[in-house]
Amino acid sequence: MSEVMLKPNGRVIMVSGASRGIGAAIARRLLADGFRLSLGGRNPDEIAKAIGAQNSENLLICPFDAEIPASAETWVEKTASHFSQIDGLVNNAGILRNVGFSMGDEQDLDDLWAVNVKAPFRLIKLCLPYLRKPGNGRIVNIASTDGRRFRQGVSVGYTMSKHALVAMTHAARFEGWDDGIRATALCPGAVNTDLLAGIKGATPVAERIQPDTLAAIVATILSLPNTASVAEMPVNTRLESSL
Ligand SMILES: NC(=O)c1ccc[n+]([C@@H]2O[C@H](COP(=O)([O-])OP(=O)(O)OC[C@H]3O[C@@H](n4cnc5c(N)ncnc54)[C@H](OP(=O)(O)O)[C@@H]3O)[C@@H](O)[C@H]2O)c1
Repeated sequence: MSEVMLKPNGRVIMVSGASRGIGAAIARRLLADGFRLSLGGRNPDEIAKAIGAQNSENLLICPFDAEIPASAETWVEKTASHFSQIDGLVNNAGILRNVGFSMGDEQDLDDLWAVNVKAPFRLIKLCLPYLRKPGNGRIVNIASTDGRRFRQGVSVGYTMSKHALVAMTHAARFEGWDDGIRATALCPGAVNTDLLAGIKGATPVAERIQPDTLAAIVATILSLPNTASVAEMPVNTRLESSL
């Protein structure tokens, strides 16, 4: 009989952007649950502070800048050489730029594309050879409800980037399925982090999802057996039809 839920059992999970917000909450939760972690971000010292832990046998904190392709390669190589295995990748690092047909510019679009789309693509590509090995590799892409529909007033560029991330998640499922890789696009509504600071029309603070709630959901997704694949998981703060 196949397993009901997978155990952390020292599985090695890479998480991008763990210096604050959702990524830091995911890192703290997964570490407490018994996963081994490789955390990538622009400022490793900030990550160590945010999660209250230092490099150890079970934790590796590496420089990673989503806009610098070589840093993805170095991060994956360092992770593989430290742990000799990679079991999961959480593409969390992301940015929000306000760009639409009458605001922002193409540089904003390029920045969104670089961080929210190209970096996850690159990391998935680099991690796939490792994720194929254990027979239960996992990819969790932190997309958004903005990856599921367009809501008036929200950045067109951000919405486009998150739709692309959802599409990439589906492609990753096909790419890795036969080797036991399962990929999920986690699509939250407003989360209580810095990302929404100063954003007009954002869900009021009291109604936002807490980062720790999302972290618990990520831990659950990573624990689902191969026979229970969740391709997209919307987690909404608003009442919307089918979302
Ligand atoms: N907050 C929400 O309402 C919400 C809703 C749905 C989805 N999301 C998604 O959830 C993810 C995390 O967002 P958050 O709310 O936790 O935002 P946040 O508090 O602004 O944190 C963003 C994280 O991404 C990192 N990051 C940004 N640019 C980077 C780069 N070039 N290279 C490496 N890391 C970079 C940041 O690192 P630094 O500290 O170095 O800047 C930080 O760790 C994003 O993908 C976001 O789109 C958020």
